[in-house]
Amino acid sequence: MTIEASDLGGENVKVEFEDGIAWVKLNRPDKRNAMSVGLAEDMIRVLDALEIDDRAGVVILTGEGEAFSAGMDLKDFFRATDGGSDIQRMRAYRSTRAWQWRLLMHYAKPTIAMVNGWCFGGAFTPLICCDLAIASEDAVFGLSEINWGVIPGGVVSKAISTLMNDRKAMYYVMTGEKFGGKMAEQLGLVNEAVPADKLRERTVEIARVLLEKNPTVLRQARMAYKYVREMTWEESAEYLTAKADQTTFVDPEKGREKGLSQFLDTKTYRPGHGVYKREE
Ligand code: COA
Repeated sequence: MTIEASDLGGENVKVEFEDGIAWVKLNRPDKRNAMSVGLAEDMIRVLDALEIDDRAGVVILTGEGEAFSAGMDLKDFFRATDGGSDIQRMRAYRSTRAWQWRLLMHYAKPTIAMVNGWCFGGAFTPLICCDLAIASEDAVFGLSEINWGVIPGGVVSKAISTLMNDRKAMYYVMTGEKFGGKMAEQLGLVNEAVPADKLRERTVEIARVLLEKNPTVLRQARMAYKYVREMTWEESAEYLTAKADQTTFVDPEKGREKGLSQFLDTKTYRPGHGVYKREE
């Protein structure tokens, strides 16, 4: 089933549902899915709506046409806000940060970026803020900002520093050199790069694995990992202990209890061989 973009409040984003997966497509193919202010506003509405939509168990973010995204829209983001008031500019940056970073980073549903083509500059932020990423080997990545006189701004420099090692990140920040899907995999920017004709199949395969997990525990595990990255060991230990207890408390499936019982009492499963039987 396809909901009209207008139902979710925009023309820059397309949403399709398929067996628990919500495909969210940046939908400005003629502009290589460059990210305008309008696209940011649409993405906020779409992500907000999907977070409470039962048809969306996993969200896959990708681009319509030949690009994932050519980054920030040089005309409809930079030039448009250059001419506006300070408040308009502030609002444009806030909308962009809201979806590319804050919503995706702290999203209630698992997210996978499927990089189908060009991925430049500002597009690194949503790419990195998705939980997982799969790229086509043919995809072309680049921190192109240095080539046209700006720094990797927004939160691009911060985002790349969370996944890439400093030497590699600095190299691409300073040279603006392009690289392909396999290099993106080596750099840790994506989990895997696969041939273009396998991209969708492999991404769906991973989404299906996630859809089989206990959704509450999966959400808590994702959040816990993301938060401890910025904590000390002491803080992490305290937080994770509390988070584990909270997970047990809020989990309607009582996963911990079932898992322990199925392993220790009924001996019907072993975690190393598979997940506990959620329905039992
Ligand atoms: N901002 C605004 N418009 C963009 C854009 C961007 N980041 N990237 C592409 N477009 C527009 C082009 O202006 C062109 O519009 P037009 O048809 O009205 O002239 C259209 O998209 C197609 O782009 P084109 O350059 O003809 O496509 P291509 O397939 O030959 O090249 C790219 C694709 C992505 C390599 C090239 O468009 C490019 O270098 N884009 C800028 C990438 C970048 O530096 N992004 C960082 C921004 S933070």
